[in-house]
Amino acid sequence: MIKETPSPVLLDVGELTVEYGSGEDAVRAVDGVSFQLRRGEILGVAGESGSGKSTLMTAVTRLQRPPARIASGSVTYHPGGSGSGIDLLASTPAELRELRWESLAVVFQSAMAALNPVMRLGAQFVDAIRAHRRVGRKEAWSRAEELLDLVGIPTNRVRSYPHELSGGMRQRATIALALACEPEIIVMDEPTTAVDVVMQRQIVHRLMRLRRQFGFAIVFVTHDLSLLVELADRIMVMYAGRIVELGSASAIYRDPRHPYSQGLRDSFPPLHGPLRELRGIPGSPPDLRALPTGCAFQPRCPKRLPECASTRPELPLLVEHGAACLLQRSADQATVDESEAVSR
Ligand SMILES: Nc1ncnc2c1ncn2[C@@H]1O[C@H](COP(=O)(O)OP(=O)(O)O)[C@@H](O)[C@H]1O
Ligand SMILES: [Mg+2]
Repeated sequence: MIKETPSPVLLDVGELTVEYGSGEDAVRAVDGVSFQLRRGEILGVAGESGSGKSTLMTAVTRLQRPPARIASGSVTYHPGGSGSGIDLLASTPAELRELRWESLAVVFQSAMAALNPVMRLGAQFVDAIRAHRRVGRKEAWSRAEELLDLVGIPTNRVRSYPHELSGGMRQRATIALALACEPEIIVMDEPTTAVDVVMQRQIVHRLMRLRRQFGFAIVFVTHDLSLLVELADRIMVMYAGRIVELGSASAIYRDPRHPYSQGLRDSFPPLHGPLRELRGIPGSPPDLRALPTGCAFQPRCPKRLPECASTRPELPLLVEHGAACLLQRSADQATVDESEAVSR
């Protein structure tokens, strides 16, 4: 079998731990998370509300605010996917300003928060473009029209104020704004959660087209796993601050290995394909201040084994598709044996 060489790594997150508060009362919202974002890929991050997705992404982009605090770990950005990389956790505010928009742009759920309510759309684009590019106002203005057109907003809207746009249009405008300086990485945290399903799909399809056109990489965060299956190349599933499963989008959809991922998949209607019976996951995510012993998911898990209450499963390293679940141990061992047999 011919294996494609994987694209170079743009963003390397190692054992990142983020807490709210410190000392005895600290709440660990992200617990030793490691992942890599490759050039041009769309990495999906899924998990119920409260699983630590936003905490992780604000820490990775250095946008976290107190009481959030990075307790340990590393975040390294490799521009163009090469070189020894830039240590984002050690970067100064001035260095981060340089990188923001140009290299790493962020889109959040609330489009209103990203747009200035008293500025015409075009003026905001012109400001963003001119902060990073030596171009005249006129050129920046026509670039703004181009960007709006890219996300399907009529160019005459360049003179509109944010409140004059529909919710879906505003959200697409923030995506266009994120594209303004052609960043290499765009982090999107629930960018479509506030818009209706039809608009959601339009935005997703447009993003996929833009990615093909410009080649940027996206980290796309949502609680809706079926949306990610459509959009993402790889998906990581988070639960109680940890990654419980990581794999290609199709593998996670066809063959989810963690009972939590299975539950998540069965909680959302698929965008394509036959309708399944929808079942939510019974119960709710744990209180991070009082995590269950062993596996954090075990009190809700339909496939729980007795030892799940005492042993905390780890995510296997260096596998294409893996889950942090004791049920996986025998399956993983079989795969290792098989590959050893092949290499012998
Ligand atoms: N401002 C905050 N202060 C204290 N704890 C917080 C704060 N924001 C989030 N948390 C804690 O972090 C957990 C994860 O939150 P968050 O990262 O927003 O999850 P998600 O984005 O997956 O919904 C929450 O369940 C809560 O325990
Ligand atoms: Mg969130």
